[in-house]
Amino acid sequence: MKFFIDTANLEQIKEAQDLGILDGVTTNPSLMAKEGITGKDNILKHYKNICEIVDGDVSAEVIATDFDNMIKEGEELASLNNQIVVKLPMIKDGVKAAKYFSNKGIKTNVTLVFSAGQALLAAKAGATYVSPFLGRLDDISTDGLNLISEIRDIYDNYDFSTEILAASIRHTMHIIDCAKIGADVITSPLSSITGLLKHPLTDIGLDKFLNDHKKGN
Ligand code: E4P
Repeated sequence: MKFFIDTANLEQIKEAQDLGILDGVTTNPSLMAKEGITGKDNILKHYKNICEIVDGDVSAEVIATDFDNMIKEGEELASLNNQIVVKLPMIKDGVKAAKYFSNKGIKTNVTLVFSAGQALLAAKAGATYVSPFLGRLDDISTDGLNLISEIRDIYDNYDFSTEILAASIRHTMHIIDCAKIGADVITSPLSSITGLLKHPLTDIGLDKFLNDHKKGN
């Protein structure tokens, strides 16, 4: 399973990269705004900076919602660096744009996916990644993990190559459950990734080992 970090914060991206487990980055317009990155030139520069920190795929979301402008914007984003994955919303023109970019060999991430039917369309369009938002489904009392399972079954039935990128991760158990289901990728805040490190018995055990070592020396 690939680990992506879901942030536009360069320090957090560096921290995850230094941990040696990072396979890529996802961003969205809200995450860019949270870091105070505004204006086209600053946004493009920020994507370039992210690509310099990580080796893997970096999702950059288009703002346009019509086909022609999605293509224009997506091509400009893709030209920044070959790590860029054009992130497209799950709307009719987004599906058309995913097909267009797929034919051109440009990677895509179809985002804002909340149903198995939407995921099926994204795969048919040749998307590289599909992003079901499990936390946002959980937020409205709907089982987000069940959606990941449904998509896994559908993609396996037909050997679709689209990778399931479980998004909107809220905590460590989401990551573990996605791994059990067989999501190809999770994208998560840094806190949930580093949360996987923690176990009190590890800390107690390490303290004892170090104390015993001191006693014996
Ligand atoms: C990822 O690509 C999504 O933009 C992100 O995971 C959404 O997460 P949120 O529901 O925490 O905003």
